Amino acid sequence: MKFVVTAGPTREHLDPVRFLSNPSTGRMGFAVARAARAAGHDVTLVAGPVSLKTPQGVERVDVVSARDMLAAVRAGLAARPSGQTAVLVMTAAVADWRPATCASLKLKKREMSGALMLVRNPDILKTLKNAKGVVRIGFAAETGTPDAEAVRKCREKGLDMVVGNDVTGAGSGFGTTTNRVVFVTPDGAVRHLPLMSKLAVARRIVAFAERTASHG
Ligand code: CTP
Repeated sequence: MKFVVTAGPTREHLDPVRFLSNPSTGRMGFAVARAARAAGHDVTLVAGPVSLKTPQGVERVDVVSARDMLAAVRAGLAARPSGQTAVLVMTAAVADWRPATCASLKLKKREMSGALMLVRNPDILKTLKNAKGVVRIGFAAETGTPDAEAVRKCREKGLDMVVGNDVTGAGSGFGTTTNRVVFVTPDGAVRHLPLMSKLAVARRIVAFAERTASHG
């Protein structure tokens, strides 16, 4: 199968030296890319600004903003032989908002008012809701128990699965090598997994995608 995996944060620039972003390091997405490649799949890894080594055998596309990420995901899904099933795994912490304007030169503080006008970014998973032959898996990083929000996001975005986690939980935050996650499917089933390495979580996500694809 063809896996398109997103990882890391996006950056939404206000000018060349200022941006809105978040602390995602990309570890979970890089682990999914590695696990999918190890299972014999073609993998395109769409990475926001992160400092991780590209897993062997994986095609990497570096992006900055949410809009760049959407374009790269579309291109990654389109670049597959007709009839090949694709799997989209959105681990990226995509910024929901961006500054309404981006200056081409550094803004001087005297030119800034202290208020920042924001506009919504596209929701990548929702935009690709009707993509044919694509298994779609999302993440829900929450502060607190993720179960209810994971179910909501799974249904709202029409996903095959949402992987929820509590970023304030021990061993589960941004930048950790481990994660304690919950797998939520659209039928409302909620499966709690024990604390394990991000690579072990990644292998289970790949196995889920393989099972889902084989059931058509
Ligand atoms: N996502 C996306 N495009 C966005 C924002 C999020 O595709 N613009 C994806 C994320 O990669 C993740 C899932 O949607 O797989 C859930 O992201 P999250 O930020 O938790 O949810 P939101 O839809 O932004 O909801 P909220 O801000 O209400 O928590």
